[in-house]
Amino acid sequence: MDIDINDKEFSLFQRLIYNESGINLTPAKKELLKSRLMKRLRERSLASFKEYYKYVTEEDATGEELVSMLDCISTNLTEFFREAAHFDFLTEKVLPALLENKRKKREKKIRIWCAGCSTGEEPYSISMILAECIEHLSEWDIKILATDLSTRVLKKAMEGIYPKDRIRGIPLHMLNAYFEKGEYNLRNHYQLKDFLRNMIVFRRLNLTDQTFPFKGQFDFIFCRNVMIYFDKQTQSELVAKFYKHLAPDGYFFIGHSESLAGTDTRFRYVRPTIYQK
Ligand SMILES: C[S@@+](CC[C@H](N)C(=O)[O-])C[C@H]1O[C@@H](n2cnc3c(N)ncnc32)[C@H](O)[C@@H]1O
Repeated sequence: MDIDINDKEFSLFQRLIYNESGINLTPAKKELLKSRLMKRLRERSLASFKEYYKYVTEEDATGEELVSMLDCISTNLTEFFREAAHFDFLTEKVLPALLENKRKKREKKIRIWCAGCSTGEEPYSISMILAECIEHLSEWDIKILATDLSTRVLKKAMEGIYPKDRIRGIPLHMLNAYFEKGEYNLRNHYQLKDFLRNMIVFRRLNLTDQTFPFKGQFDFIFCRNVMIYFDKQTQSELVAKFYKHLAPDGYFFIGHSESLAGTDTRFRYVRPTIYQK
């Protein structure tokens, strides 16, 4: 059974979603919203979007439905080594300078934040690059904080198990070095080896929260293809927070179709989609 969403109902969800996630749904996204939320209405046996809105905002005291609703709204497209130029830049510029700097300070600690990590391909790609570039990796204290709003994608990310068609972008030598091939019912799947999975801490974090609970600063931050869903003001506020949480000289990476142009920021432009503090 198809349930229609009228303009008034759409506006209610538009405002709710904006307030809760920063995701800015234009009226052109009305059908998309409808199709994505329909499953939630069915699951709750509700007959209209108005009833669903009431359920999410007033009746569900646990707040769980809000989380499920946001899970349905977010677009989670990602892949291993997406936007390969960033990984080349990490290998050729960022890591050599960072390692040299750490060596001078006699420090063996690296902190990275992957914000909007989706199903994990991005932080795992970073971890493979670290493994490729850093000698005696086990002597280092490395943590990649990988965060997302969606609990659904985080669950997949934590498992780190990917079917054959998802590992296409991975060079063969890395596939052999960093993945275990599944057996039995996971025959056509690959799982990241523990030493890489243990480097990553997955957490739910809403990027539109006023403050983030971090003590130290990150050596570099990836936030790619996330801000594209936010309006300019939300983007500016977020970019200022990234700046604050980045170590001096730290690099900030954004998605291929994003730019900080028009954003009031202290970041130095390095090249398209790459900035430095
Ligand atoms: C298109 S994916 C990008 C994945 C990866 N960074 C990449 O470029 O391949 C966007 C991710 O941003 C997340 N996201 C959207 N709004 C968010 C928010 N307010 N806080 C945290 N994550 C958010 C979504 O759940 C989704 O997983």
